[in-house]
Amino acid sequence: MLHKPDFFTLEDIDAIVQVLRQQIGTFQPRLGLILGSGLGALADEAEAVAVVPAHEIPDWPVSTVPGHAGRLVFGMLEAQPVMILQGRAHYYEGYTMAQVGLPVRVMQRLGIETLIVTNAAGAVNPDFNPGDLMLITDHLNLIGMGGLNPLRGPNLDALGPRFPDMSQAYDRALQGLARQVAREAGLLLHSGVYASLAGPSFETPADLRFLRVVGADAVGMSTVPEVIVARHGGTRVLGISGISNKANLDGSTVTTHEEVLAAGQVIVPKLLTLLRGVLRGYSQA
Ligand code: HPA
Repeated sequence: MLHKPDFFTLEDIDAIVQVLRQQIGTFQPRLGLILGSGLGALADEAEAVAVVPAHEIPDWPVSTVPGHAGRLVFGMLEAQPVMILQGRAHYYEGYTMAQVGLPVRVMQRLGIETLIVTNAAGAVNPDFNPGDLMLITDHLNLIGMGGLNPLRGPNLDALGPRFPDMSQAYDRALQGLARQVAREAGLLLHSGVYASLAGPSFETPADLRFLRVVGADAVGMSTVPEVIVARHGGTRVLGISGISNKANLDGSTVTTHEEVLAAGQVIVPKLLTLLRGVLRGYSQA
């Protein structure tokens, strides 16, 4: 039998929901947003109803990474009630996969319909440049193939099936909406496959050539576990990568976290335009 932090029961999850309900009252978030490295400034755009420091929430996986503020912001953005995670926890920080997926479980029990996940990613596709946005159309669950799946353990039957389908992990209608918003705003929006690795070391040139061959367009250290938990519970998903650096396919350049955070500053205004448009059009998608 698995116990927390390797596995969270419905009771564990609902205990967190109770704590949050004390702060937000009857506020009902419709969408959850997870903001990736260097993208946390987006949360400042919401008209906040409540801001909850992550460390005050029992069992919550608090991010230890610079660029992840560690707050939950509940509020209105483009007239939609949202719950924003400013800072996510990653497997490489020492958290279990169950902990990495826990915030999405809490979002589901709070009643969200849709999860919008964002991340900073390295470009494997040679046509992508730092500062570009990529709509995630599918993912390569390389950590999961290695055995690290957030759904490991007893299935939470109240939330979803033992063997959830992943044939359309990223919602097609929401992808269409994101493309339309980008077109109307004159924003370049690539589409592609996001590959998730465990990190925290960046890839070797050989890793990156492998990723290119198997069909990855971008690579990062997050997102996929959260998307799997979301889809298990029937939550719709929209995923956007902010490209922070080019893949170092020939070993001629180095990749740093500072570079990732600096690219975030270029990406944030574009991502904000895109997400505001998606939220405006959401009720029709
Ligand atoms: N590799 C993995 N994760 C990343 C990268 C990268 O190049 N850039 C931002 N996150």
